[in-house]
Amino acid sequence: MIKSIIEPFKIKVVEQIKMTSRDDREHFLAEAGYNPFLIDAENVIIDLLTDSGTAAMSADQWAALAQGDEAYAGSRSWNRFKASVQDIFGFKHVIPTHQGRAAERILFTCMVKKGNVVPNNTHFDTTRANIEYVGGEAVDLVIPEGRQPATLHPFKGNMDVDALHQCIERAGRNRVPLVMLTLTNNSGGGQPVSMANIRAVRRVCDEFKIPLYLDACRFAENAYFIKLREEGYADRTPREIAQEMFSYADGCTMSAKKDGLANIGGFLATQNDALAQQEKNLLILTEGFPTYGGLAGRDLEAIAVGLNEVLHEDYLNYRIVSTHYLGDHIAREGVPIVQPPGGHAIYIDAAAFLPHVPRSQYPGQSLVAELYLEAGIRAVEIGSVMFGKTDPKTGEEIPSSMELVRLAIPRRVYTQSHIDYVVEAILEVWQRRQDIRGLKMTYQAPFLRHFTARFEPMHESLTGAFPVRGACTP
Ligand code: F0G
Repeated sequence: MIKSIIEPFKIKVVEQIKMTSRDDREHFLAEAGYNPFLIDAENVIIDLLTDSGTAAMSADQWAALAQGDEAYAGSRSWNRFKASVQDIFGFKHVIPTHQGRAAERILFTCMVKKGNVVPNNTHFDTTRANIEYVGGEAVDLVIPEGRQPATLHPFKGNMDVDALHQCIERAGRNRVPLVMLTLTNNSGGGQPVSMANIRAVRRVCDEFKIPLYLDACRFAENAYFIKLREEGYADRTPREIAQEMFSYADGCTMSAKKDGLANIGGFLATQNDALAQQEKNLLILTEGFPTYGGLAGRDLEAIAVGLNEVLHEDYLNYRIVSTHYLGDHIAREGVPIVQPPGGHAIYIDAAAFLPHVPRSQYPGQSLVAELYLEAGIRAVEIGSVMFGKTDPKTGEEIPSSMELVRLAIPRRVYTQSHIDYVVEAILEVWQRRQDIRGLKMTYQAPFLRHFTARFEPMHESLTGAFPVRGACTP
């Protein structure tokens, strides 16, 4: 029997990649203040910044786009979208939004008040920011294994159920308006949550009568991990597993830019009639009428098809296997990664990759800069640039718990030879890691600073050899 797992699709439309030289890239990176978020995409060879909104759509999705019904109210496309969502997610009320964070903003504006506490396995950055914006406290309660990059565990995204119990008792039930679980746990390494853990969290929520919401961005990948790793699920389809996952929740937020296989879109869903009414009122204020949210009818069509395609087993098998391929090929040469590989991304442990770079000099961001210089690969830091905080008493920066670099794989976009190129580039950088130096942050915004922060390489006289061969000497 043939063991190779191939991309289960043929390519019908292609997009040219502009090849750049190292000199070009030194110039682009310096211009961008060493922050690849600020580099033009056409100057990136392999773009692993995010798996969000970057999927290649199928011929069926493009065909559905042409069917888009752009009626303002009650369009045919809305009915298709709603039916598709309800079949998988099962919630009574579906509220379309332009992307996941719009769903988060509406949900938290309605449910969270100043001084409230919202537990999650690990809040994604927009989730945390939206909770903090309305005065709540976002608490991360992933199991201890989820904070240790090298530790193996089949469901490293699980929530620490005892810690959840204690958190609610300490805060007092009335200060906890909802509990969340992020599937898969993006900020913790794209790690799945088991069905047993969802059930256990549900039991705690029942005990305190607190609603449970799932951040469902990568629900299909999570469902497939359950099928592969959890006893009793091997013979169930990803759709059936997803349906069971959602049956334990009171609602969800969703970014269709991930497992919706669409380039834009999202939704908020709930079983609660009164809450849905309140959410729809807010939706009308900023997103649009409740049958389109911030979306065109054609977007609703693309999502309706994407949500079904993402549950195909051949697709999910290829998806998980190809992500693991990247992780396994760099890990076996010694590159420290979050183990086991997650669903949508490989996370390099930059603190272990560059142990000589102090946390205050952002080892993750330094590695991101090197990958761009080496091969035009754009990755993202998930460490102290993204989650570092300033101590209000001392003014000192408190580093985040991990210094990771995420290589997120867009869905159905790159082939195995692209990934082989990425493997080779990472191993080149790994060979000369001792020469890599840290960065100094020269600008930061008050919220979500990683998007716009600017950096300079640490100067030669401070840290030894200049880090990035001739680029932008300050
Ligand atoms: N929740 C999770 C777990 C996410 O990963 C994201 C987005 C969101 C919520 C917000 O959704 O972007 O549609 O507003 N994650 C992207 C990423 C941006 O690169 O991981 P959105």
